[in-house]
Amino acid sequence: MAIDWDSLTFSFTATDIMYTATCNQGEEWQKGELVPYGNISISPAAGVLNYGQGLFEGMKAQRSVNGGIVLFRPERNGKRLTDGALRLGMPPVPLEMFLEAVEEVVAANARWVPPTGKGALYIRPVLWGSGPILGVAPAPEYTFMIYVCPVGPYFKGGMHPIALKVSDDHHRAAPGGSGAVKAIGNYAPGMMPSKNAKKEGFAEIIYLDSVEHKYIEEVGAANFFCVKDGVIYTPELTGTILPGITRASIIDLARHRGYEVIEERVDIDFVLESDECFCAGTAAVISPIGAICKGEICTTYCNNQVGPVTQELYDALTSIQTQTAADEFGWIRAVPIPNLPAK
Ligand code: PLP
Ligand code: COI
Repeated sequence: MAIDWDSLTFSFTATDIMYTATCNQGEEWQKGELVPYGNISISPAAGVLNYGQGLFEGMKAQRSVNGGIVLFRPERNGKRLTDGALRLGMPPVPLEMFLEAVEEVVAANARWVPPTGKGALYIRPVLWGSGPILGVAPAPEYTFMIYVCPVGPYFKGGMHPIALKVSDDHHRAAPGGSGAVKAIGNYAPGMMPSKNAKKEGFAEIIYLDSVEHKYIEEVGAANFFCVKDGVIYTPELTGTILPGITRASIIDLARHRGYEVIEERVDIDFVLESDECFCAGTAAVISPIGAICKGEICTTYCNNQVGPVTQELYDALTSIQTQTAADEFGWIRAVPIPNLPAK
């Protein structure tokens, strides 16, 4: 069936091939295999199903303007998977095995990579405690899988300002918890608050820190930035927010372009007085924020248009990701694909 590249959204599509590898506790990972995409069989007593011993990653493969298929800083995802595996008591997947697996699964699904500018192939590596375990303890067996889906914009309308609600009564992570890794258990508790905010017309929730309930943490599944008097601010990595790869890249790009970027605790009251805000992540790319409401207090930014700094950084980031601009930082990794048809 022909794929309608113009109507892609951020939603699930079954593709052709997935990657799977397993490892017993205390043993080394062995190279996995490519298999047809499909359901899997797993014990009802699996650690991941009962105790949430699981992690995921999110990355994108894009069709470069040069015709190839490229990844953006995939080694960073591999490193973050390792950090998360250690936090959750799972055997880390060696970086070389991770990168090879990502490349293999992308190459095997090359026909699903959208044309340049129409979207991306979202890559979802997962690491699960797949063996049965009754007591609360690390599972006896682990599964590393990767599946992929062609996706369009994460927020409806793409590069269109979104309205966000500051959560009054929910937090995403606490000091000493798992907020700094992509633990699967970090996501379900956000679903109800996010759904309620959507019913009120907001695109997502902004979480504040769980100790003082004052400092911005994250926007759902993306990192937060604001601009005040030409200076860019973003919450520092305190151990409760995810160290986003897009976040790190934006900081480097902005500094390279002459902006001062300050990583510190960002007070919500300061944000409500700032000039421009956006959020950033692999799925969200850079998404402009048009309004933030905290209780009855709402601030509209840039007349609900895309702000100038947001647009500049979006253009700078996406042009590197599609190779429209030179890869000055060495962030792009080409996926070797024999006989790739031109799009
Ligand atoms: N914060 C959370 C909670 C996320 O799930 C994500 C998505 O991965 C991000 C931030 C952004 O991280 P990255 O830019 O590495 O995708
Ligand atoms: C990503 O940006 O890759 C994410 O993980 C967001 C996701 C939870 C949809």
